[in-house]
Amino acid sequence: MEFSVTENHLESYPSSCVVSGIFEETRLFPSTKKIDDISKGYISALLNHNVLNGKVAQTLLLYDIPYLPNKHIILIGCGKKSDFNENCYKKLIRKMILFCKEISILRILCCLSEFNIKGYNNYWKIRQTIEIINEELYVFNKFKKNKTKLNTTLHEIILHIPHKNELPSCKQSIKDGLSIAQGIKIAKDLGNMPPNFCTPDYLVNKVHELSNHTNVTINIIDALKMKKLGMYAYLAVGQGSSYSPTMPIIKYNGHPEGPNVAPIVFIGKGLTFDSGGISIKPSNKMDEMKYDMCGAAVVYAVMCIAIELHLPLNIIGILAISENMINHASFRPGDILTTLSGQTVEVLNTDAEGRLVLCDALTYAARYKPDVVIDIATLTGACVVALGHHFSGLMSNNEDLSNDLIIAAEQSKDYVWKLPLDDVFQKQLKSNYADMTNVGGKSGGAITAGCFLQKFTDKYNWAHLDIAGTAWISNHCDKSATGRPVALLSQYLLNRSSHNI
Ligand code: BES
Ligand code: MN
Ligand code: ZN
Repeated sequence: MEFSVTENHLESYPSSCVVSGIFEETRLFPSTKKIDDISKGYISALLNHNVLNGKVAQTLLLYDIPYLPNKHIILIGCGKKSDFNENCYKKLIRKMILFCKEISILRILCCLSEFNIKGYNNYWKIRQTIEIINEELYVFNKFKKNKTKLNTTLHEIILHIPHKNELPSCKQSIKDGLSIAQGIKIAKDLGNMPPNFCTPDYLVNKVHELSNHTNVTINIIDALKMKKLGMYAYLAVGQGSSYSPTMPIIKYNGHPEGPNVAPIVFIGKGLTFDSGGISIKPSNKMDEMKYDMCGAAVVYAVMCIAIELHLPLNIIGILAISENMINHASFRPGDILTTLSGQTVEVLNTDAEGRLVLCDALTYAARYKPDVVIDIATLTGACVVALGHHFSGLMSNNEDLSNDLIIAAEQSKDYVWKLPLDDVFQKQLKSNYADMTNVGGKSGGAITAGCFLQKFTDKYNWAHLDIAGTAWISNHCDKSATGRPVALLSQYLLNRSSHNI
């Protein structure tokens, strides 16, 4: 899909279908008013006959309107003018693309950004438009013999903005939006891949694909190196798998002041399959545990975006990859593991494996003297119970960092909710035999997992995103990775970038 932005009016685009809005009080968007004027009151006449009442997302296709050069017009109801807000805008864009998917048009001139929304500029609207359209056009059919093809003829979307002075920022918005949308697709595709294809080796190959970019270096910490380093918690998780655990590191240096500026480090949980290990999971929905690498997929995607947009930052992406399987060599409940930090962990449940790979990755990250470290993980079912599927769980040892993430979440509409990491939870991780256990009991499971990770993060500012509820949606036959929180983290990086240019 091609996107462009223009301040020219609809007469300049006679071969485009115009999409414009109408409010419930029958107030017209500027372009709708223009169509009404050119057609000598055609729209007003429709309204007088109550053909359209402007309720949110009501849609009407009109064609061959008198005196109008544009053959097709789509009018979309925008609800009450006083209620019109950013969420309403998103709804309209979604409705527009769903409607246009079904009809045979080549090009649209979208005028839905014309109306001002307090607190949201046209840069934001265009970015959202691109992300929503790409989301609605997404298909994953790599494994179907008969590929379901989109039957849409639409291939170009021209976005109309009212003022010329916003053209440069809106052009930038298209660039940013396309790159973020592409990143979301990369994360979704990886998440949707089955675990017999998306193996640890497969992910490492994906990482190698990035090595030909300037400013990018790849470093693979394989099992042998892990042993030498003493990453025994990380290694234990992969013991029962026929794939070796591996920790690829993608280093991107884009900061104008050079490679010595403290980096932003992302760490993604990358369990290509989580059977639970000897503490095996119930078989119902176990297929969904292929998504247990979504944290790593998101980190990979965000690195792709940073590279593509040449962000003026130093960023390191660490993919904590392993597979939690069962055989004679699997780690067991009762095992005591020595982590890279030197602290020991008594394993009480082999299904709490994410924190075991992450704790060693977090310790490893300290060597970069990072500005901040953010880990992203499908870590606990408890987080899904606590927050459902709309909010990722946020935990942090630094208020500035968590506030930055909350702001970026609000901007990108990729929401997070902060959970408390209070000392009172620490006692739930007490062990008879080791420095800690790997599970904290029934209550506050998302938080005790966060507390576990916190024990490995005292050298830097750190935030943890539990994306167990947000990384995929699952209804009976309609399952998919969502690509979340790529949008949030890209927004965080863009916000950080704006201070450096
Ligand atoms: N990958 C799971 C968490 C998960 C569960 C993600 C459901 C998405 C949906 C994680 O490795 C896990 O199994 N966690 C356990 C922890 C428990 C044993 C303390 C859980 O949540 O049940
Ligand atoms: Mn598990
Ligand atoms: Zn897991």
